[in-house]
Parts: sequence; C-alpha cells; structure tokens
Amino acid sequence: MEIINRRQRMSSVARKIRREQDKSIGLVPTMGALHDGHLSLVKEARQMCDIVVVSVFVNPAQFGPKEDYEHYPRDLTRDTALLTDYNVDYIFAPPSEEMYPRGYATYVNVEGLSDQLEGISRPGHFRGVATVVTVLLNTIRPDFAFFGQKDFQQALVIKRLVRDLALDTEIVVLPTIREDSGLAMSSRNTYLSSEEREAATVIHRALLKAREAYKAGERSAGKLVEAARKTVESEPRARLEYVNVSNSENLEKLDKLDDLPILITIAVFIGKTRLIDNIVLNSSGKKKDSAKAGS
Ligand code: PAF
Repeated sequence: MEIINRRQRMSSVARKIRREQDKSIGLVPTMGALHDGHLSLVKEARQMCDIVVVSVFVNPAQFGPKEDYEHYPRDLTRDTALLTDYNVDYIFAPPSEEMYPRGYATYVNVEGLSDQLEGISRPGHFRGVATVVTVLLNTIRPDFAFFGQKDFQQALVIKRLVRDLALDTEIVVLPTIREDSGLAMSSRNTYLSSEEREAATVIHRALLKAREAYKAGERSAGKLVEAARKTVESEPRARLEYVNVSNSENLEKLDKLDDLPILITIAVFIGKTRLIDNIVLNSSGKKKDSAKAGS
C-alpha cells in the first residue's frame, strides 16, 4: 500500500492503472477516523474493483464557521493500519493546500437537492462536499465510488452531480452500518461520553417508532414525525433539531404518504454532538444502489 499526498502523483498513478494496466479503480472517499461503516465500503470496493483507493481528507469547505473542523478526529496512523488489513492499494491523503491551492476559485453547487434538510441546517455544506468530490473524481477517475446511506442526502447530491457533469464514475451506495444498540456508525460518535452514547440510541429508536406507525397503516407524515419527536423527547440528553418525511428521490416534503418512496431523516444533538440518521420506507428493497451518469 502506498500513501500519496500529492494530487498530481495520484492522478498519474491512476492514469497508469487505467491505461497501461487496464484495471478498474474503486474510490472510497472519507474524512478519516475510520469505522466499520467506512470499512464496509472498502470491502465492497475490494470485491468489485482491481485497485482500491481510499481518500482521507478533512474537507474544510464543507464545515460551517461554527462547526467542528478544527476538532474533527484525525489519526492517519490508525487509519493506515486499518486499511492495510483490508488490502487497500492506495491512500490518498492530501494536505489542504493540495486540494485548494492558493487562488482556488471554483465551486460545485447542486441546486435544489443541496438546499433542503441538512442544507438548511448547514448552509454551504453540500457545496463543499460536491466540490471536493468533483475534484477527487477528476483526479482519480475511478470506475466506482462508494458512499454510505447514513449520509443519504449527500449520496443523492453526488449522484446528481455525476449525472449533470457527465462524469464517468458509477456511484455505489451501501446500507448504514449500526452498532448493536442501533446507533449509526459515525466518526462523530467518538465525541460521545458513554452516557451520551447510550442516550444517542434514541435516534434510531425514534426512526423505528415512525416506521412502526407507518407499518401499522398510518399515512399522515405529521403523525410519523410526531411519533419520532415524542421518542426523542423521552431522552433528556437529546435535543431534536429536525425530523422530516420526504420523497427519497427528490427530497420534497411529504404530507400524505402513498406509494412514493419515503425517506425519514433526523438530526439530533446529544449534548454538544450533532448526529444524523435516516430510514427509507417503501423502497424497492434493493440492498445496494448504484447510479451512473446518463442512467
Ligand atoms: O462523507 C464524508 O466523509 C465526506 O462528506 C466526503 C464524501 C468524504 C467528502 O468530504
């Protein structure tokens, strides 16, 4: 395994792999602080592709001024050890000035999809994500890039940018990996004390309550929101930021639930830590979801 820090080197290594060796490349973009959620993406990439690249870059452009960019967990030594066990070929870990050299002025904004849900709570977040992912895809030109469903809206934004910019990468979205308690794996879970970690299990329970109501025949989105809200409110350490029922294909808010694919998203503060999660109802039941430009 080689660790690459320079964009130019990454791009020439990837070009050689494609042109001279005619091998497929899978990219797993991360911000490091790897957990089992990331590793499930790496495993799938390993199965599907000849060469696996994991990028580790804490992207300043996707953090708001009052967010946790400075404190975001960083431990490249630990991440490298983990990725060695998973037989990864390259880690691309550029410093900030490699991704955003002096004078950097071009940003990618996926309109509409970026302005809802997380985009309301975190203005500019998806512009930062879309920009860095575009640079990563252009640098490496992977055949496949892998993302988790935990960041459902992010995956939707990325699929759209790949389609709109006609990038030649297939986006693969894999299910959320949870701890036994139901808590979705997230690098930000490292901020939680053990009491908070226990309290954070209320997030998934809230989603399950909403799903239960839906399965029992409830078709009012407001009632599902109410079921989730009440569950979160039963946990004193939790503060609900939003819970939302929307169309999982375009994120439009839903009132009455019929045969549309339904996405329930939630954002909750546990102490000072902000966590998000989601659940999809009424989906086609596909375990893995993938999309390519033009398809
Ligand atoms: O999901 C993440 O870790 C980040 O948003 C990503 C996709 C690596 C872009 O910085």
